[in-house]
Amino acid sequence: MNRNPLTVSVNGAEHVLSVPGDRRLLDLLRDELGLMGVREGCGVGACGTCTVLLDGVPVNACLTLAVTTRGRSVTTIEGLARDGELHPVQQAFLEERGFQCGFCTPGMILTAVGLLRENPSPTVEEVTDYLGGNLCRCAGYPDMIRAVLRGAERCREAGGRPSATPEGPEAARLRAMGKGEEG
Ligand code: FES
Ligand code: FES
Repeated sequence: MNRNPLTVSVNGAEHVLSVPGDRRLLDLLRDELGLMGVREGCGVGACGTCTVLLDGVPVNACLTLAVTTRGRSVTTIEGLARDGELHPVQQAFLEERGFQCGFCTPGMILTAVGLLRENPSPTVEEVTDYLGGNLCRCAGYPDMIRAVLRGAERCREAGGRPSATPEGPEAARLRAMGKGEEG
């Protein structure tokens, strides 16, 4: 299969790659970039385990073709911490014991960060709705919901928004340079 040029910002670092048109973002992140925090559950868009942020918005990496991320910014769980400090939502998951086996946790946390970017002060119902596409086989939902609410509180205290970049500086720069287009 023909390969396609791809320049994409992942966790703030620019990657210049060449990928087949049918390569999933999930495989690119895990197999080529070694980001094993991106987990595969169902592989068909039903469990949310593979969630990453694309320009700050949660997407299923198993349903996203890598080529569609050209010139954009991808954030995985490995990219949330800053300067050695966990993201407030990660910290809240630790404090509230918002995980058991941890398999679904990266996707849950990234979905929660996406929610808090849209809605910094969600209600319990809004958190429950937003996390509805993320399944946990350990069923620790009450602890997770509490963790998201605590994370929201911490984000507000930290200045009103989660620190995950909506569109990383690299992606913005690439767009400005016209590198985000085919070719
Ligand atoms: S592995 Fe992507 S939604 Fe289940
Ligand atoms: S904590 Fe085990 S799958 Fe969610």
